[in-house]
Amino acid sequence: MQDKKGVIVAVVNNKGGVGKSTICVNLGYALTTLDRRVLVVDLDSQCNTSKLLMKT
Ligand SMILES: Nc1ncnc2c1ncn2[C@@H]1O[C@H](COP(=O)(O)OP(=O)(O)OP(=O)(O)O)[C@@H](O)[C@H]1O
Ligand SMILES: [Mg+2]
Repeated sequence: MQDKKGVIVAVVNNKGGVGKSTICVNLGYALTTLDRRVLVVDLDSQCNTSKLLMKT
């Protein structure tokens, strides 16, 4: 059964191109395999995370 409380995970690093988006996508996917409901929010104008997640 799902916990009622949500957990917010932020992946932050001032440096560009260090794997922030990659970590978000893979962590999000890994949590779904543990039966967790996941919402990934992509606020980056590059939309890299959205593009990665929309690939099927
Ligand atoms: N663990 C890793 N090993 C090798 N390459 C990686 C790893 N993690 C990410 N990369 C590669 O590094 C590049 C940058 O990754 P990513 O786009 O996730 O970084 P970012 O921190 O989100 O960048 P930005 O600051 O531009 O948003 C991508 O080409 C990705 O495939
Ligand atoms: Mg990124």
